[in-house]
Amino acid sequence: MLRGISHDLRTPLTRLKLRVERMEDRAGRQQALSDIDQLDRMIGSTLRYLRDGSSRIDWEICDMSSLLQSICDDFWDTGAQIFFEGPERLEVECSADEMMRAISNLCDNGLKFGSRVTVTLRQEGGFAIVEVADDGPGIPAEMRDKVMEPYTKLGPARSEKGGYGLGLAITAEIVAGHRGELSLRDNHPRGLRVRVALPLHHDRS
Ligand SMILES: Nc1ncnc2c1ncn2[C@@H]1O[C@H](COP(=O)(O)OP(=O)(O)O)[C@@H](O)[C@H]1O
Ligand SMILES: [Mg+2]
Repeated sequence: MLRGISHDLRTPLTRLKLRVERMEDRAGRQQALSDIDQLDRMIGSTLRYLRDGSSRIDWEICDMSSLLQSICDDFWDTGAQIFFEGPERLEVECSADEMMRAISNLCDNGLKFGSRVTVTLRQEGGFAIVEVADDGPGIPAEMRDKVMEPYTKLGPARSEKGGYGLGLAITAEIVAGHRGELSLRDNHPRGLRVRVALPLHHDRS
């Protein structure tokens, strides 16, 4: 079922791409094409996931600073209050597409449940620490394990905010696939702070 849907999504997406390629506004066209490319890669990795059982990671050396900065730029372009703080450069061995997807999910949540998001990056020993903090209502400590499960959405006040309750589950799976750790914490003075610790190097053993 899901496989069929993912597959069929490609047809209108290809059509959309052809339309966008004819757009006059050059900057807008580039942005739209890069969004379409990202969607296409997400469909590709979903199909691969459904076929192989778990996503196969295409390991590459990626500059986490520019990856996070570009996620923030994309949200910023849609009018969001989102800020990146971190070093000029920090190389991490990971799948850039998957990490993009994982961190974008966290930013999406932060902006959906809060109004302002800060993404920070730092190195701690052999790990890159990425934190996504917001000023929303946060998640009560006793609910934190629960929200990581697929299709979990909290409370009536929040449930009207779209979504299928899959974002955190997908993010957790991507982080686990990278042998990283994901944890939900309180942000101060308010909100949620999601911490992702990623090994800088992929252990091939
Ligand atoms: N930053 C956040 N602040 C408050 N609640 C959150 C936040 N992120 C996630 N949640 C809660 O966890 C639930 C699951 O999140 P997620 O898996 O991303 O699903 P979705 O965004 O589709 O609802 C959300 O519905 C929400 O109740
Ligand atoms: Mg979400």
